[in-house]
Amino acid sequence: MEKGWEIRLCQAALEAREKSYCPYSGFAVGAALLSKSGTVYTGCNIESAAYSPSICAERVAFAKAVSQGEREFTAIAIAGAKQGEMPAQQCPPCGVCRQAMMEFCSPKEFHILLAVTETQYCEYILEELLPQGFGPKNL
Ligand code: THU
Repeated sequence: MEKGWEIRLCQAALEAREKSYCPYSGFAVGAALLSKSGTVYTGCNIESAAYSPSICAERVAFAKAVSQGEREFTAIAIAGAKQGEMPAQQCPPCGVCRQAMMEFCSPKEFHILLAVTETQYCEYILEELLPQGFGPKNL
């Protein structure tokens, strides 16, 4: 993506939120994952009546991307809030999603944008949200 990619990635995460299937928590999350090839893969949380098969927006985006052959990523934007409301605060990724990012992303180079609106976001690198993370290089 060219200049302004952060805003476009946050916008894509906010749009992906609208597809959230979250009848149990009522908390809708959207994610937009930018691959190094320049493609954006979106995801939303998808819940299950049996609860444990539920999956977070971030891992849906990774599953879509990896299943399309992508292995290298630049950034992810995440937005979450009660369904039907606009986000009023950041939605940090859960621990499982941080670990999933660690599989494919460089802790010092992968950017995580926590979006409130498309222009209001906080930017972190993976290492800040998962210090001393265990990844493929530790094996
Ligand atoms: N959720 C995500 O999709 N991503 C996160 O990083 C945090 C939590 C979802 C899981 C569940 O469907 C709902 O938000 C409430 O926890």
